Amino acid sequence: MTVNGQFPGPTLEVRNGDTLIIKATNRGRYNITLHWHGVRQMRSPWADGPEFVTQCPIRPGQTYTYRFTIEDQEGTLWWHAHSKWLRATVYGALVIYPKLGSSYPFRRPAKEFPVLLGEWWNRDPMQVLQQSMVTGAAPNVSDAYTINGQPGDLYPCSSQDTTIFPVRAGETFLLRIINAALNQQLFFSIANHQMTVVEADAVYTKPFTTNVVMIGPGQTTNVLVTANQPPGRYYMAATAYASAPNVAYDNTTTTAILEYQRGGSSRPVLPQLPVWNDTNTAKAFTARFRSLSRGEVPTRIDENLFFTINLGQINCSRPSFRCQAPNNTRFTASMNNVSFSLPTRNSILQAMYQNTPGVFTTDFPPVPPVQFDYTGNVSRGLWTPVSGTKLYRLKFGSHVQIILQNTNIVTVEDHPMHLHGYHFYVVGSGQGNFNPKTDPARFNLVDPPFRNTVGTTPGGWVAIRFVADNPGVWLMHCHLDVHIGWGLAMAFLVENGVGELQTLEPPPLDLPQC
Ligand code: C2O
Repeated sequence: MTVNGQFPGPTLEVRNGDTLIIKATNRGRYNITLHWHGVRQMRSPWADGPEFVTQCPIRPGQTYTYRFTIEDQEGTLWWHAHSKWLRATVYGALVIYPKLGSSYPFRRPAKEFPVLLGEWWNRDPMQVLQQSMVTGAAPNVSDAYTINGQPGDLYPCSSQDTTIFPVRAGETFLLRIINAALNQQLFFSIANHQMTVVEADAVYTKPFTTNVVMIGPGQTTNVLVTANQPPGRYYMAATAYASAPNVAYDNTTTTAILEYQRGGSSRPVLPQLPVWNDTNTAKAFTARFRSLSRGEVPTRIDENLFFTINLGQINCSRPSFRCQAPNNTRFTASMNNVSFSLPTRNSILQAMYQNTPGVFTTDFPPVPPVQFDYTGNVSRGLWTPVSGTKLYRLKFGSHVQIILQNTNIVTVEDHPMHLHGYHFYVVGSGQGNFNPKTDPARFNLVDPPFRNTVGTTPGGWVAIRFVADNPGVWLMHCHLDVHIGWGLAMAFLVENGVGELQTLEPPPLDLPQC
């Protein structure tokens, strides 16, 4: 499926403060919803989009109008389908310029380019997903990565269509890098050119210079690049950062060409990319992020939560986990041992608004039901989660801290965890098990990155904080689509506060019904 026949879909260019009205008509053959990744839709969760969480899907022939306002956000976000694996082809950039009369906190670049890193299957991705649901095995890895929809010169198909970024010698340009891949963190480099990171997830950062960017699915990273090399042609390239040992991944490399005016037509040079399992480079890069402005990091904590991020395995004969796997087991994933299952009859938000019982419960555990050595050798008895649609209830305005602890169930892995409806401060991270006695002393409460998606280091933890001031139902999940399907998700139910501005709006009249 595509949007308006384009792949990637149209770039939305707006200003901070704008209200967007997007009429989505489903002319395809699958049910679909759209999500505005990273937009903190104050008071309008009805426009957020994850299917069966905030809305029922838009069925073929139906129309739904998304309406939301961008409040106090500038930089690069993006939009994508939020139904099964349809975001493989349904995604695009959301560029938010500063308000009229204000400007970037860095020198205005001569040019700007969205750089959408995507993932391509030669088969219908919905069938790839369907097959894995039946067999219980991991879905087939992709056939290619893409830059702005094109795989580039290292694949035997489309060299004549490789994406080209035209620049002039001496000028500085801005790349808005978006990882729209379904299942893979990526390393990104440009031959012979340094990049200066200035923004991530639509929040300005203290600038720093690097040869390589590591970006997880869901994340965006803006970099400034100066065309300071001899006029010529230079590859930009992206390849996998695959953090889980012994897990299959697509090991191909996508390229695009940075082409100087009068740079000739010689074969471009390839950049040196880290090897696929270079966790040290990934960690060192991630550790350099600092917010440009001093944040308002919560210091008093009302809700101290500890969530384990687990893969798992379950027996196919259990209801709601059916499969036809030869060894009768299926992969699964969970947070605090709960594998999230989406309702099918209604969306959670509609059920909450209409007080419909039986759609969800609010007993998501604040801590794991069993404590164990999370990153050690975990006994098989702890590999099996329970299934449920469990939410965690938050009072309006509560100050929340979550420790996201990766576990060694099946394998350790970097999970890009995304929270809908909020940005959060990433106040700390570390290897091994979180230690509540010693680790908080090292938290950065001064200028931590303020993001909507953060990776848990493989076999480590990350600490995030936010203020729950956006009422509604907000999904938190791993942005690797293969893991969402296995249940690596939960949702918050944020209660109303006082008065109209702190109260969930009624649903729009055209909200799709299930
Ligand atoms: Cu970018 Cu729930 O997704």
